Amino acid sequence: MDYSIKSDSPEKLSTDCLLLGFHPKRKLGVAATAFDEALGGLVTRLLKRDDPEGKPGDILIVNHLPEGKIERLILVGLGKKDELTPSLYRKSLAAAANALKATGAKQATSVLHEAEVKDHPLEWKIRQTVEILESALYRYTRTKSEKEQGKPPKLEKLQFLLEPETDVAVVETGIKQARAIANGMKLARDLGNLPGNICTPAYLAEQAEKLGKEHKKLKVKILGEAELEELGMGSFLSVSKGSREPAKLIIIEYHGASAKVKPHVLVGKGLTFDAGGISIKPAGGMDEMKYDMCGGAAVIATLGVAAELELPLNVIGLVPASENLPDGAANKPGDIVTSMAGTTIEILNTDAEGRLILCDALTYAKRYDPVAVIDTATLTGACITALGRHPSGLMGNDDALCESLIKAGETTHDRVWRLPLWEDYQEQLKSNFADVANIGGPDGGAITAGCFLSRFAKDFKWAHIDIAGTAWKTGNEKGSTGRPVPLLSQYLIDQAQ
Ligand code: BES
Ligand code: MN
Ligand code: ZN
Repeated sequence: MDYSIKSDSPEKLSTDCLLLGFHPKRKLGVAATAFDEALGGLVTRLLKRDDPEGKPGDILIVNHLPEGKIERLILVGLGKKDELTPSLYRKSLAAAANALKATGAKQATSVLHEAEVKDHPLEWKIRQTVEILESALYRYTRTKSEKEQGKPPKLEKLQFLLEPETDVAVVETGIKQARAIANGMKLARDLGNLPGNICTPAYLAEQAEKLGKEHKKLKVKILGEAELEELGMGSFLSVSKGSREPAKLIIIEYHGASAKVKPHVLVGKGLTFDAGGISIKPAGGMDEMKYDMCGGAAVIATLGVAAELELPLNVIGLVPASENLPDGAANKPGDIVTSMAGTTIEILNTDAEGRLILCDALTYAKRYDPVAVIDTATLTGACITALGRHPSGLMGNDDALCESLIKAGETTHDRVWRLPLWEDYQEQLKSNFADVANIGGPDGGAITAGCFLSRFAKDFKWAHIDIAGTAWKTGNEKGSTGRPVPLLSQYLIDQAQ
């Protein structure tokens, strides 16, 4: 998609499709009113005739306009003027994007950004428009035969109609950031949607290497099992030994600042298929465990975003990648393994494998002397029980770091909600036979998983983002969402300022 900025008057504008917002009782914004006048009151007449309520996401499509330079019109309900929240604005944009996609227009012009969203500036509205449109245009095609893929959307260009006095630079930056984030989300979604027999640890590693070739400032290194053994990553390797696919530790380094500048380290769970191991999962819905690498995909994709935006930062991405399968060599309940940090771990449930691969990656992160380490993982079903599927679960050992993630989540609407990591919970991880158990019983499962990780993150500022509920959708819309690429990217953008 090509995005541009224009400040034509309504009489002069020529477009395949014009997107205008309206509020209940046929109230129009300034730009929409100007168009209504230029069109001889057509918009008002249409709204009177069909009388749509104007709720957020209500759509009225006019597929043909009498003579003139505007081919089509999409009227988008925005709800009551002073009640337009970020969520409702996004809902309206999503409805507009889907309607626009369905018209078959090649080019469109939008003034939907004229709507007022409290505390959210123009560049935010532009960014949301680009991200939501790109999301709507996303198609998964890789494993569908050509005739099943459907036709690609025809839309190629969107222009934003701005008032002449607008600060164009700010809008252009917004578009650039949104495009980079949308590209990252697309990569993360494709990787998430690919099945486990294609998207293996080796495949994930290849994709990281491919990304590394696309950007000069990215350096990619892949560690194989022999090297992981040498490093003493006994916890990580205990998971992969139950699988025929060898484990990989994917390391992506982005150098956007001088070598002296301390890096931000992002760690992502890259479990390419989680059957649970010997503590095997029930069969129903097990296919969805191909998404258990979405944290890893988001980390790889976010390094791509940092490189595309040339952020003046150093960022390291670490993705431990493995399968978790039942096998004669797999971990068994009661097994005790020794992590790279020297901590012994009693594996009471082999399905709590995410923390077993992440803990060694966290220990590895220490060598970078990081500003902060942020891990993200589809770690616990308990997080979905606690928070549902709207926010990701946030935990951490540093309030300022958590605050900056909460803020980045609000900016991008890729939101997080913090859970406590009080010491009181640590007791649940006591083991009679090892330093720590890998599960903490049925209570507070998202938190005890966080507590487990916290033991390997004592030497730096650290936050953990549980994306089990947000990285993919179940049901009709089954598929990967690309979260938390916007959140992580925004965190880095904010850090660069
Ligand atoms: N990958 C799962 C977590 C998960 C579950 C993500 C459902 C998305 C949807 C993780 O490896 C896991 O199996 N966790 C267990 C932990 C339990 C054994 C303590 C869980 O959540 O059931
Ligand atoms: Mn599991
Ligand atoms: Zn898992």
